[in-house]
Amino acid sequence: MTPQRRILVTSALPYANGPIHIGHLVEYIQTDIWVRFQKMRGHECWYVCADDAHGTPIMLRAQQEGVTPEALIARVWEQHRADFAGFNIGFDNYHSTHSPENKAISALIYERLRDAGHTTVRTIRQAYDPVKEMFLPDRFIRGKCPRCATPDQYGDSCEHCGATYSPTDLIDAVSALSGVAPELRDSDHVFFQLGHFETVLRHWLAQNDLQPGVVNKLQEWFDAGLQDWDISRDAPYFGFEIPGHPGKYFYVWLDAPIGYLASFRNLCDRTGIDFELYTRPDSPAEMYHFIGKDITYFHTLFWPAMLHGANFRLPTNVFVHGFLTVDGQKMSKSRGTFITARTYLDHLNPECLRYYFAAKLGPAIDDIDLNLDDFQARVNSDLVGKVVNIGSRCAAFVTRDFDGHLSALDDDSSVLESIKAARDEIARSFEARDFARAMREVMLLADLVNQYIDRRKPWVLAKDPAAKAELAAVCGTGLRAFRLLMVYLKPVVPTLVDAAEQFLRCGPLNWASLDETFGDCTIGPFTPLMNRIEKTKLEAMVEASKQQETAVQAASAPTAAATAPAVENPTISIDEFAKVDLRIARVVEARPVEGADKLVQLLLDVGECGQRTVFAGIKAAYAPEALTGRLVVLVANLAPRKMRFGLSEGMVLAASGTDSGVFLLKADDGATPGMRVK
Ligand code: 2FM
Ligand code: ZN
Repeated sequence: MTPQRRILVTSALPYANGPIHIGHLVEYIQTDIWVRFQKMRGHECWYVCADDAHGTPIMLRAQQEGVTPEALIARVWEQHRADFAGFNIGFDNYHSTHSPENKAISALIYERLRDAGHTTVRTIRQAYDPVKEMFLPDRFIRGKCPRCATPDQYGDSCEHCGATYSPTDLIDAVSALSGVAPELRDSDHVFFQLGHFETVLRHWLAQNDLQPGVVNKLQEWFDAGLQDWDISRDAPYFGFEIPGHPGKYFYVWLDAPIGYLASFRNLCDRTGIDFELYTRPDSPAEMYHFIGKDITYFHTLFWPAMLHGANFRLPTNVFVHGFLTVDGQKMSKSRGTFITARTYLDHLNPECLRYYFAAKLGPAIDDIDLNLDDFQARVNSDLVGKVVNIGSRCAAFVTRDFDGHLSALDDDSSVLESIKAARDEIARSFEARDFARAMREVMLLADLVNQYIDRRKPWVLAKDPAAKAELAAVCGTGLRAFRLLMVYLKPVVPTLVDAAEQFLRCGPLNWASLDETFGDCTIGPFTPLMNRIEKTKLEAMVEASKQQETAVQAASAPTAAATAPAVENPTISIDEFAKVDLRIARVVEARPVEGADKLVQLLLDVGECGQRTVFAGIKAAYAPEALTGRLVVLVANLAPRKMRFGLSEGMVLAASGTDSGVFLLKADDGATPGMRVK
């Protein structure tokens, strides 16, 4: 028996201002499968996570909604918890970075770093919005790219040519919040001196089995030289004030990973687990972080350095995965492939996605694609057609002809030996996060069982009274094989296996169940354990996701781990632009839409073009009653779109950026409805 391991596992903390979507779920499903596998093997394994609740976007989002940041993050926390529960993500604790534990550990880590001489204070010049009276994060400054002159680019990088620069390089920069040109102002900032830890980090890299892609990246970063990291932000900021620096707050990325420890601390305090045993420098436990590739820098440089500098243990490993594409492309609201966890759950069985991701996930940092046709075909053929089918093929006879009594084993039970013989190979694949390999192996074993049943033809035996014993033996063997396959599938499809455990009345399965004899017993009635995915359900899910797409792009652009980076915007000719008929319109009436949290139904006066009804996803930013009478800009020649709530005859224009909210465009006084906008 392998000695019991102690393992602490985390997934990246999702921001507390947007819904969980299928891009996020790659990581939570990946981690959850791994954790369930470890628990089934008998190890002590704790899986903790939390909402990432701090930072400027969350502060601004709350302002826009007219609520406190605390109220916003409390609401989102509930939604995230419900979404994760819907996908059976079995966190041992789901906390928040805005918690007393996180405040205490962040202060402790900072003070230890400061006292050991690993922080320094420097004055920096930064863009300041004189209207909003706040310093602006780079992402809230827009202007022309200094390299290719593409307008409306972020303050840190150009989406068109990929250039990276500082906000002061932008041409004609404006604040995305107020639209005015930012001023440059001085401010004292606290820096963490990452360079002090180069030797420690190189040693950590050499001692641990990081993925080759991560090792290469780290090598590049070492070669480029480790820079000091700015860990402070000026008020107003939603976060924790830095001890000894009134008006300065920890940057969200300082306290976010500390949120892993804080969530674990909260769990320990509630349950009596020994926190120090898992977190002290000489801890005998293992600690793993599952993350998306876009946040590798934070987790493989800053985080281990902070931990070491503050006398905590370092991660045993950081497991990095790639992004998710849907049908080969970045998730898109207009294509209906920006699918939230909730919309998925409204239409499909979560276990199907868990299986599909498992069948695609390997140990490398490769992106994975959710091809919707392949998803349907694979789930239907593997889970329903191969696995569940074994149960239904055998159980019907056992119930009908033997009152559910399962006794004999076939003389030819080599199929059971074959399944058991694969255990080490399958365990190695799960351990190495090569779930695709594990699932391939399990499906080959399911094929073997189906071939066995095909060969022994229980449906023929059932017609022959003299073959009763043989029928019992074949079905008994088939169901025992089914039970063994359930052991291997349990980390991936726990709900299906739970139903199988009920029907087999075999008690909770774990890895040791492979060695247990499943002898004389009586099984319960067989109920279908999983239904086929119907094309109509998939189509309905995509349609519902399109309807969530708003006439304007909603504020909750993807920000977390598993979405593909933005594609370049190709230019269009003036003729192409001229095809868009933009008109001034006046809001005659605005009302909420029943059953649609985000939508407002607008009745618009468009002068010579008559009246139009448009559904706009602006409710988070605008109370409907405040819109009556105001001028907006309408795309008047957009093909009408049938939505669940009615026909939308155009689209109103608004600005939106990552997490910064939605801002309707308006015309200056004097413009009248129907005027063309050019
Ligand atoms: O990228 C993100 O979505 C971050 N909220 C992840 C934080 S992970 C950890 F460091 F907290
Ligand atoms: Zn550019």
